[in-house]
Amino acid sequence: MIKKVAILANGGDCSGFNAVIRAIKKTCETNGIECYGYIDGYRGLVNNNYIRLDGSEKASGILTKGGSIIGSSTNAIVFHYKVEHEDGTVTYEDLSDQCVKNVKEAGFDCVFTLGGDSTQKSARDLFLKGINTIGVPKTIDNDVACTDITFGYNTAVHVATEAIDRLHTTAETHDRIMVLEVMGRFAGWIALESAISGGADVALIPEIPYDINKAAEAINKRKENGKRFSVVVVSEGAHPINAEQTTHAAEGIDSKAGISVKFGGEGNRVAKELKELTGLDSRCTILGYMQRGGTPTAYDRVLSTKYGAKAMELAMEGKFGVLTVIKNGKLDYVSLEDVVGENKEIGAVQGGTAESNVRYVTMDDDLVKTARDIGICLGD
Ligand code: F6P
Repeated sequence: MIKKVAILANGGDCSGFNAVIRAIKKTCETNGIECYGYIDGYRGLVNNNYIRLDGSEKASGILTKGGSIIGSSTNAIVFHYKVEHEDGTVTYEDLSDQCVKNVKEAGFDCVFTLGGDSTQKSARDLFLKGINTIGVPKTIDNDVACTDITFGYNTAVHVATEAIDRLHTTAETHDRIMVLEVMGRFAGWIALESAISGGADVALIPEIPYDINKAAEAINKRKENGKRFSVVVVSEGAHPINAEQTTHAAEGIDSKAGISVKFGGEGNRVAKELKELTGLDSRCTILGYMQRGGTPTAYDRVLSTKYGAKAMELAMEGKFGVLTVIKNGKLDYVSLEDVVGENKEIGAVQGGTAESNVRYVTMDDDLVKTARDIGICLGD
């Protein structure tokens, strides 16, 4: 019988965090279980900083709220944790034993880890060290292994679709190529799905290294048919056949301690080259954090609620070291061991990188086939 649980929200924020927290908290209240929340994700676990959520005013009325009421931290890897000393020096330390001690002393029977692949890698590693973890898959990129969908993704696609609709107006009025850069470091789900829902003409994703000449050909063909404008969606992680992804060093982050590069800029490269190749004027818009903030869509509210309630159900059944998932449309769970794939070593690569177990767009996915069927150029 579990009596006391804690929630931890980790990684970049996205719509649905609070809806999951609410669902866990409400299921706790239904079952007379105490519910707590660690402040700022894994940082709260290290610092033993948590608050009570059941019965609390702070955790009420949060279904529609963006962000996370208990905060979240990026690049807080407990196995390689950045410690800043009084003399100004910085060391990276394995603080996982401290986390295990904190959880045991607090008496938490389960810690729910809401986050992406990096968060779930740490959850799996901490499970092997004796903490009862249950993961809930989050990320706008939709790239967590073993699940059809992560919470936050649908809202991001919705925001991107609205942006494409608005860019269409300018494209058509001024005979321009309007490029929209969306998030998606290694997986192009947002770009692909929003290109379909927004009626874009070209979609460039990381899984298909592109030939800019192919994209230009598609736009020139439209021009010949009297359409002197085009809308192009580019994943931030897309790249040409013979070039690397566009990244910038993230200041002060050790590569083992988190994501040491930032993405962004690929859309500008595409816009510039398409202008040269088509003679049409072009502009790039980088959608950025708009995709992560604000109220979740109805779909994400329901998905988050299902995930939260399922996570609590699993905890009450004593099933730990698992991740809630949607498989073929059904709510289910898988072992965190499957989620980390070959990334087995405790404390090694924590995810969020090309080496971690990312769920890519596959060439036989319905979205790829549909895009090709209706003539969206994928740059190949
Ligand atoms: O993983 C989600 C994501 O939104 C990526 O698509 C993006 O590259 C990254 O987070 C940016 O994160 P931040 O700037 O918050 O570190």
